[in-house]
Amino acid sequence: HRRDATVDLKAAIRAIPDHPKPGIIFRDLTTLMGNPEAFRATCQALADAHQDRGVTHVAGIEARGFIFGAAVADRMQTAFVPVRKAGKLPHKTITKSYALEYGEDTLEIHEDALPEGARVLLIDDLLATGGTAAASVELIRAAGGEVAGAGFVVELVGLPGRSRLEGLGVETLALTS
Ligand code: PRP
Ligand code: ADE
Repeated sequence: HRRDATVDLKAAIRAIPDHPKPGIIFRDLTTLMGNPEAFRATCQALADAHQDRGVTHVAGIEARGFIFGAAVADRMQTAFVPVRKAGKLPHKTITKSYALEYGEDTLEIHEDALPEGARVLLIDDLLATGGTAAASVELIRAAGGEVAGAGFVVELVGLPGRSRLEGLGVETLALTS
């Protein structure tokens, strides 16, 4: 594969002021996904960052974590596990409510999604307050998995996201305010 470290990922991300609420600068990754070089480099970099951690499963967080997580699982030749918003998964679930930068929500995982010994890489597009990711870590653990790493395309610095995931092998590709 071609690894293109020269792609400027940050430049490929669009900023939308006051979305979804006044005061929030929304980091819109549809522009990155719409750029084939940037999208490919992003998925490859997320996979490369966690290559030597014995990952068996990639868990992607609905909705934008599905887009990157599935591509990373394919590259790493692992299984993919969806962490979904409440009410979507059809089988028995474990549930966790949480707060995020602009609201609150509930996430679920299938209770039988992970076999014993599963080493899970958590993937999402963006780390802000860390509420979403911390809830997902709890779900992965409650389902019997071990968190082997956590990868994000964007990290908002100045919010406590990283400190809420201490010791979990967090890797982010682009920093912004
Ligand atoms: C966004 C983003 C992360 C989360 C990060 O998802 O994709 O999952 O917020 O915020 P936090 O670190 O403060 O928890 P959102 O809940 O807007 O859902 P969506 O992907 O379905 O649009
Ligand atoms: N999720 C939480 N905060 C966000 C932001 N500023 N932009 C995009 N997604 C987000």
